[in-house]
Amino acid sequence: MRMRPHVNPLKSDLLEIAEVPRISARPGCAIEVELGAAEAHFLVERARDDRNALFVGIEIRHELVSATNADCARRGLDNVRCVFANMSVDLPRLFSEGSVRRFFLNFPDPWFKSRQHKRRVIGPGLVREIGRALAPGGELFVQTDIFALALDAMAALEAEATSFASTGEPWTFLRQSPYAAKSRRERQCELEGARVWRLLYRRVCG
Ligand SMILES: C[S@@+](CC[C@H](N)C(=O)[O-])C[C@H]1O[C@@H](n2cnc3c(N)ncnc32)[C@H](O)[C@@H]1O
Repeated sequence: MRMRPHVNPLKSDLLEIAEVPRISARPGCAIEVELGAAEAHFLVERARDDRNALFVGIEIRHELVSATNADCARRGLDNVRCVFANMSVDLPRLFSEGSVRRFFLNFPDPWFKSRQHKRRVIGPGLVREIGRALAPGGELFVQTDIFALALDAMAALEAEATSFASTGEPWTFLRQSPYAAKSRRERQCELEGARVWRLLYRRVCG
């Protein structure tokens, strides 16, 4: 099947996706979420290490969501689920307050042209919604090979000091990923020797 490499997340039909589910897990089962999961390679690897959590990929390319869910079903990965939704507007419908243990934002689309910057997902709105959905002590991990995006994420998180605290010093990047799982783009960066900037923030109660 031919997959579109990118879609414009500001297209009107993607700002008003009709069927966005409410995500819940059985009692005692944590929820971890990758925003912009693509084929969910990262979540599949995490799911192999932790059979007791639910791993949810949010992805805006509908055909990719169907293909990834079919692939997970074929492999018997019943704790990985991808959902067709737009992370920029749908988090309130997807997740109730304090319901998520971890969010991952792995290599968000760069949208290099300045007239397309408005399509970028990182900003105060997304950070506030992630803060609402995270459980106290829950984590947000961001990684990207685009320095400007890493700085945008850090600035948005440092501006929400009553909700988020860096797990290291403020305004510092991690030296390496704290997770064994790797996303597809992360592996590609490793192959190319590209520098990756990583941030890990914890939800605090102000
Ligand atoms: C550069 S890819 C990275 C994929 C994967 N996280 C990785 O690291 O390999 C960015 C992904 O985010 C998805 N995406 C972009 N904007 C989105 C949005 N507003 N909501 C949900 N997914 C989005 C894209 O379709 C694409 O699959």
